[in-house]
Amino acid sequence: MNSSTIAIDGPAASGKSTIGYHLAKELAYLYLDTGVLYRAVTWAALNRHIPIEDEEAVTALASKLKIEVKSPQIEDGRQYTVQIAEQDITWAIRSPEVNDAVSPVSVYPGVREALTQRMREIAAKGQVVMVGRDIGTVVLPDADLKLYIVASVEERAHRRHLEMKARGSASTYDEVLANLQQRDRIDSNRSAAPLKAAEDAVIIDTTTLTIDNMLQTVDQLVETVVA
Ligand code: DC
Repeated sequence: MNSSTIAIDGPAASGKSTIGYHLAKELAYLYLDTGVLYRAVTWAALNRHIPIEDEEAVTALASKLKIEVKSPQIEDGRQYTVQIAEQDITWAIRSPEVNDAVSPVSVYPGVREALTQRMREIAAKGQVVMVGRDIGTVVLPDADLKLYIVASVEERAHRRHLEMKARGSASTYDEVLANLQQRDRIDSNRSAAPLKAAEDAVIIDTTTLTIDNMLQTVDQLVETVVA
């Protein structure tokens, strides 16, 4: 198989960005974590005091906002740099405030339409690994390889809690767990492009996998892609 578009979906903290990022690196493909686009719109709405419930205003913002996702210039654990109007918002989009508001924003069909269009433009050049919730089902239904990454919600909360603690966040494990459960519910039940595996996706459960195990999985995937 010689895949040039790879779609990876799954719930938050399932390991999909770890797998996607390393897969893209080994294949020398472009890597796009599409959650970043939804997070950037949410951050910008909060920053401009646009009420998250104001669908029309949030949708208008998503249509005009210029979000840049670039290769990282700083070594602080980031996989990419996210900017709006040259302001570095890479870590700001990971704040608890954005975590709480991003799923409601991603429910709006107009927001999804604007961001989906951007994703397709980026994927049109090929050689891309795109990670999200609806990449294999809606954004790139003809992707050459589709993966759906899952893990138990407790394990995902544990991982996300450690990550947030390392960055100085005071959120507790229980708060992180509650946020993930709420986001899973909103992401899976929305009518526009809900989180679900494409019928032709390969399912990978990472609940008991260490980072090293995930990297071994990536090596096996690289072999199937270049075979
Ligand atoms: O992967 P993440 O946690 O950074 O994603 C943030 C939110 O964005 C998530 O709650 C759902 C939404 N999202 C989406 O609806 N579709 C995508 N392709 C990517 C993310």
